[in-house]
Order: sequence, then C-alpha cells, then structure tokens
Amino acid sequence: MDGGARSGRRRVAVVTGASSGIGQATAVLLARRGYDVAITHHRNAAGARRTVQAIEGLGRRAASARMDLADPAGAPGVLGALADQLGPADVLVNNAGVNRRAAALDETLEGWEATLAVDLLGPFACARFVARGLIDARRTGSIVNVTSVLATAAIRGGAAYCAAKAALWAMTRVMALEWASAGIRVNAVAPGHTVTPMNVAPERVADADLRRPVIPLGRAATAGEVAAAVAYLAGDESAYCTGSEIVVDGGLLLRSGPEALARALGAEVPVEVGP
Ligand SMILES: NC(=O)c1ccc[n+]([C@@H]2O[C@H](COP(=O)([O-])OP(=O)(O)OC[C@H]3O[C@@H](n4cnc5c(N)ncnc54)[C@H](OP(=O)(O)O)[C@@H]3O)[C@@H](O)[C@H]2O)c1
Repeated sequence: MDGGARSGRRRVAVVTGASSGIGQATAVLLARRGYDVAITHHRNAAGARRTVQAIEGLGRRAASARMDLADPAGAPGVLGALADQLGPADVLVNNAGVNRRAAALDETLEGWEATLAVDLLGPFACARFVARGLIDARRTGSIVNVTSVLATAAIRGGAAYCAAKAALWAMTRVMALEWASAGIRVNAVAPGHTVTPMNVAPERVADADLRRPVIPLGRAATAGEVAAAVAYLAGDESAYCTGSEIVVDGGLLLRSGPEALARALGAEVPVEVGP
C-alpha cells in the first residue's frame, strides 16, 4: 500500500481542488491506497466536507482548507497550514483548475491572467512549496499535474486554457529534470472529456449519459478513471516514471481537427472570425 507508514509516519498526499470531480475521486482513491489526505477547495465547501467524510470513512486522517489560486502567492500559506495538521506532503496532486472559453479577439488581459493564475501559476507555487519541503527534509516524493488533451490540441475559445495547460506540461518536464536527483518525481495526467461539474451540472454528474460517439471508445471518462492514472503516477508502482504523461482520453487525440474535438468535448459551435 503506497501510503503505508514510512519512518513511523503515514504518508501524506495533498490534492488541490478536491471538492468535486477528478480531485475528489483522486483524494478518496489515495486514502484507499493508505495515504492521509489534505485537500483544498475554492467555493464548494459542502463538496470538500463530503470528500473529508469519505477519506475519514476509510480510516485515514483528512484536513481541508479553502485556497483561491487566483492568488497564487497565497498558496504556500494554505499548504503550510495543512502540513501543520497532517504533516508535510509526500505527494502533491495539482488538480484544481478553471476552464473558461473566450475567442481570442474577445478575451481580455484580465481573463487571460485569471485563467493562467489558477491553471499555471498556482500549480507552480504549490509544486515549489512541496518540493522545497521534501528537499529540506531529505525525503523523496511525487508530484502529479493534471493537464488536459487541450495542452496538445487546439480548440476555439481555448487561447488561455490551452496555453496554460501546455505550459503546465512543459513545467512538469522541467521540474522532473531539476528535481530527479532529489528523488522527486514529477508527472502529468492529461484527461480527455471527463464528466465532472466542469462540464455537467453538479446534480447531473452521477447519472450523466457518458455516450459520445465521436470519441473512439464511444464515451466520456468518469472522474474515477482519471483518478486511477493520477494515483498510479503518485505512488510507488510508477517509481521509474518522471517527466511522463498519461493521456486518459478514450482515444480522443487520435481524432484530428478542431471540429471533431469540439463535438467530442461538447463545446458550443465555434464562432468564426469574420473575413
Ligand atoms: N472535466 C474534464 O473534461 C477535464 C478535461 C481535461 C482536464 N481537466 C482538468 O481536470 C482538473 C479537475 O477538473 P474537474 O473536471 O474535476 O472539474 P471540477 O469538478 O469543476 O473541479 C475543479 C476544482 O478546482 C477548484 N477550483 C476552481 N477554481 C479555483 C480557484 N480559483 N482556486 C482554487 N481552486 C479552484 C474547484 O473548487 P470549488 O468547486 O470548491 O470552487 C474544484 O475543486 C482541472 O485542472 C481541469 O482543467 C478536466
């Protein structure tokens, strides 16, 4: 069991954005694998409470805090407070994210910056905080960044989101290289279309229709299917992986062209820029 006690201490995983969706599924799966789990949420305090209850129901310790990655400089303080409760992190899952769409000509600098703050600067601040703690304590660890197929594929309206996720993937590889000698592995999971509150009304997630004929496997992913890949990269089974990415997309990236992607992702019909 990955989270089993080492040096007399049960291992601690931190999962950002674990009040719903992929983060919630990951936090609960890591608890099942034996970790104590600290989580963050932004607005959904009720969702965070449900995640904590599920973790504690598995006999693991849990801690929870509100974190707004629109202010990335505040992230280390939140992670420090969580470490005071559960102990320092051995695993970090940079999962929290926002996905807003705006055509490049309509996008504002403020909107662009807001997306990059949550999806890129926040994970950067969290990863550095956790890596610094591991290095100072001479402990090894693992960081998993949740990117997206949209780090690779272009979609109309995705200027900020695609840029942030592509940069997060680039950052993953740089950190993997810089921290390998310290025994800190840094990897990424790139989900495809996953049924979560990011794209389905929260009350509809549980029994949402997953069928998506345009995706080669014929359906969207569940949060649990993405969480399985995150937990693999977080834990010891992937001890020889660093700078790696697991794409969990049902073959979506095998389809080429923004229209096919837009249909598969359930995106609105794109607005064409005039002549
Ligand atoms: N769903 C997909 O199809 C898909 C595909 C590719 C990649 N992803 C990525 O997967 C990750 C998880 O998304 P999800 O699909 O599970 O969506 P989700 O259920 O909406 O979860 C997003 C999480 O991020 C948190 N969050 C939002 N804004 C934040 C902010 N300003 N500061 C800190 N946390 C914030 C949310 O907190 P509150 O709800 O508490 O406000 C929530 O816990 C994201 O990075 C997303 O980009 C998702």
